[in-house]
Amino acid sequence: MKYKSLEQLFRQTASRLSLSSCPFLEARLLIQKAAGWDESEFFRQLDSPVRPVLLRKLETLVRRRLSGWPVAYLLGRKEFWSLEFKVNRLVLIPRPETELVVEKVLSLPLSDECRLLDVGTGCGNLAVALAREKPLARVVAADISRRALRLAAENARKNRVKNITFVHSDLLEYFIKRKLQFEAIVSNPPYVSQSDWEKLDRPVRDFEPKRALVAGPTGLEIIARLVSQADLCLRPGGFLVFEFGAGQEKEIFKLFGPGWSRPEITKDYSGQPRVMSARKTSQS
Ligand SMILES: C[S@@+](CC[C@H](N)C(=O)[O-])C[C@H]1O[C@@H](n2cnc3c(N)ncnc32)[C@H](O)[C@@H]1O
Repeated sequence: MKYKSLEQLFRQTASRLSLSSCPFLEARLLIQKAAGWDESEFFRQLDSPVRPVLLRKLETLVRRRLSGWPVAYLLGRKEFWSLEFKVNRLVLIPRPETELVVEKVLSLPLSDECRLLDVGTGCGNLAVALAREKPLARVVAADISRRALRLAAENARKNRVKNITFVHSDLLEYFIKRKLQFEAIVSNPPYVSQSDWEKLDRPVRDFEPKRALVAGPTGLEIIARLVSQADLCLRPGGFLVFEFGAGQEKEIFKLFGPGWSRPEITKDYSGQPRVMSARKTSQS
């Protein structure tokens, strides 16, 4: 099909994407991606003719979007904490509600030079956001996926953050072996059960890495290990802050033994209990 102008292509693309929640925004972002433009260039070009190479690239993106690909994977980026992160199908797309973990950590009585560990860092969103907010802190970002760690390191560079070290570790094993301790451990761990995963939206199941989401048959397997290992890796007075799933709070409370303060829950903006934080009161 021939288009008189970019504007006509834009409108037609939005109408093809009419089943998504923001068709005009998505159409603009996909055109920008196909053309290599930023937003202001897009608007400058609205009256211009459409080049065939742009049409071809856009067609691939629109077909993928119509087959369910998340926009963030098509664009290769996602915003978190007002910072831009490169993402690909090896890592979970950061969710807005995970920003609550950052907010919670920033509200804690932690020194500027504290040692912070983000375990299950994925694309590095929590570690990079915290390292930006606390430039004197020594931040460690860990993941079981080496490829996620490489992407997280790229995201630290992209956001000009230098106070992060990247470590390959199965949860806290690396740190336990070396007797390393932190003032705060943060995580958005996998917390979905196998049966709940089967009920998740198709794009999540089809495109996002299962290992980033599913913890095991109950969904609590990783959180249970995290709480018991954090007991060894937190200094007395240190904090464990992590995201969890709907309805898991009662079972999670039971995981904290006598060496912990009573865990606190922070609700997200939809009123859903979302983030757990607990303080370690004594050395185990
Ligand atoms: C829910 S994603 C969170 C990613 C990112 N922090 C975020 O907030 O979007 C969980 C991450 O934990 C990692 N992971 C899963 N099992 C792990 C384990 N046993 N040890 C360390 N990391 C693990 C996955 O590779 C994934 O990157």
